[in-house]
Amino acid sequence: MTKPKKLKINTLIEVYEDPANLIKQDFNLLVAAKEALVKSYAPYSGFQVAAAAILEDGTVISGANQENAAYPMCLCAEQVCLAAVRSVQPQGKIVAMAITVHNAQNPATQPAAPCGACRQVLSETEDRQQSPVKIIFAGESGEVYVVASAKSLLPLSFNQSFL
Ligand code: THU
Repeated sequence: MTKPKKLKINTLIEVYEDPANLIKQDFNLLVAAKEALVKSYAPYSGFQVAAAAILEDGTVISGANQENAAYPMCLCAEQVCLAAVRSVQPQGKIVAMAITVHNAQNPATQPAAPCGACRQVLSETEDRQQSPVKIIFAGESGEVYVVASAKSLLPLSFNQSFL
């Protein structure tokens, strides 16, 4: 019997014990994301999420999750942020996005990674702009994770080449 070929998927994550050790642009973007938590509307889950994106020209645009009583209509922070970017700069290239959370019931002591749907949208954003989006994600305290591309968080991603 022939053994199947094996594919190994590697994800490289930079782990910062202290946000102060991030490069200045990433640190500032994380601060912008933390500041954007006030834009969150999360009366149902109490789970506030905010994202801040920096574009090639240095513009920083942020967004936060927006919930509805009809739960499936809830909008994730990352997608609100991306929609805000596209409203202001339809052709702008996003260089990086910082994501953070606040949950009074259960404070996050580790990085809260974007959900699967947001990973897909971020991955397709990279395809569209033909350049990677660095993702910086953090909880309320603890380590900060940095990946060089959203695709690092979504191996075997679906894309337009299948259509
Ligand atoms: N949420 C985000 O904003 N981003 C994610 O990547 C995961 C989940 C929001 C949606 C909802 O308002 C709340 O977090 C709880 O799921």
